[in-house]
Amino acid sequence: MNNSPGRNPSLISVNLPMSMSKPAVPLSINKDFEIPSIPLVLIRIIQTLDKDKNSARELEALILHDPALAARILRLANSAFYSFRASVKTISHAIALLGINIVTSLAIGINIFDTFTKGAKSESSLINELWTHSCGVAMLVKEIWAKSSRREKEEEFAFLCGLLHDIGKVILFKKYPGHYGPIFAAAKTETDAVISFYENENYGADHAVIGEMLAKQWGLPEELAFVIRRHHESSALKSPLISAVMLADLLAKELKIGYDGDDGLNANPSLSKLQSNMEITDEEYERLKLFASREREGINRFFKISS
Ligand SMILES: [Fe+2]
Ligand SMILES: [Fe+2]
Repeated sequence: MNNSPGRNPSLISVNLPMSMSKPAVPLSINKDFEIPSIPLVLIRIIQTLDKDKNSARELEALILHDPALAARILRLANSAFYSFRASVKTISHAIALLGINIVTSLAIGINIFDTFTKGAKSESSLINELWTHSCGVAMLVKEIWAKSSRREKEEEFAFLCGLLHDIGKVILFKKYPGHYGPIFAAAKTETDAVISFYENENYGADHAVIGEMLAKQWGLPEELAFVIRRHHESSALKSPLISAVMLADLLAKELKIGYDGDDGLNANPSLSKLQSNMEITDEEYERLKLFASREREGINRFFKISS
């Protein structure tokens, strides 16, 4: 495993971690793997996902209960995602501009990342890269989904799937501090395996399996758990939503929006296969890339400032 040119300089450079000793307590997902308990505020925010428009006030009240969460949502709304002319000053304004489902998704994503990042000082820059990547994928998959003729769910739901597709990696950071970091940070070339391979080798499960466990245990929607579990399986291509997440994931890697532990050089299915599967013309694909490059600056700048 080598350092490839153009890699994000904040990532540490290490050798292939296959030679590292495995953790003293290997992860046994059926017996001793414990998912941390879900924060109370998150239970209530997740419950608002199923409700109708009347839950806007409820969501606002929940977010305002946690001033740090409210402040982060406002900062995100103002800088990283949406370039509104007027600044977003209140949560109710954010809900009105972005929509209740996007604000709910952001609240869930911020809350989960915060829960697992607490105390992870030495690896916080890597987790920040993952969060940047996740936001990039969320933004891209929403864009892809909005244009897709194959959509059977709202584009806001696609956004949530993009935001949480790699959530299993956050659990691995938490469960194996100092061990998962080097595996995640090592640059992977065309001849190296994908990160799921190293996760399976070291921990007996990959981030897709672990992410699904978290999603199920924390009561996230079934379909979201399904997308998280299968977002690297080529056999899942018949699901348009999973195809869209896969395509957004590879695009975010290609455009270097954050980092998710894998350069995507060995990805299967390939970018071109996903493009044709989603019936995206070359013209549309170039437009998507342009959109992503424009947004990338905002996202990267935001995450550099707030890390
Ligand atoms: Fe992944
Ligand atoms: Fe990813």
